[in-house]
Amino acid sequence: MTFPDWTAVVVEADDAVAAASVLLLAAPVSWLASLAVHPQWRRRGLGRSLVRDAMTRSRVASARWLLLEVDRSHRAAVALYRGERFGLLRRFREEGRWRQEMLRRLGGVCGT
Ligand SMILES: CC(C)(COP(=O)(O)OP(=O)(O)OC[C@H]1O[C@@H](n2cnc3c(N)ncnc32)[C@H](O)[C@@H]1OP(=O)(O)O)[C@@H](O)C(=O)NCCC(=O)NCCS
Repeated sequence: MTFPDWTAVVVEADDAVAAASVLLLAAPVSWLASLAVHPQWRRRGLGRSLVRDAMTRSRVASARWLLLEVDRSHRAAVALYRGERFGLLRRFREEGRWRQEMLRRLGGVCGT
């Protein structure tokens, strides 16, 4: 286990924040702690780009897995993660909301 390292990625457009992610880099498991795209900039591929960026950064940090939690009601996010081949790890209830952990196995630095 290496010492965790927080990374934030901010995408700017028109002098404002269009999207952002927060990633806790660690080996063997990195954690995508936050991902959001401004409503004005959705459905243009920014969310997918940030997820792929998180996978690349995690591989470089020697992680073998990328973990995240998401509200089950956030259908756009769940569809995005499924499309990027995250698998369901567990479902749980937190403060009245159904949430789930999803996990993506990472290849090597050049892997998928
Ligand atoms: C989830 C979120 C980050 C997606 O960002 P985005 O930039 O709009 O997503 P993309 O344009 O990269 O879309 C990638 C895929 O996600 C899925 N998706 C995105 N928006 C969707 C929607 N409204 N309904 C269904 N699927 C959707 C699709 O599978 C899409 O692939 P496609 O365009 O080939 O159909 C964005 O909707 C968001 O910020 N939501 C609120 C915050 C949130 O839920 N964050 C995740 C917390 S873990």
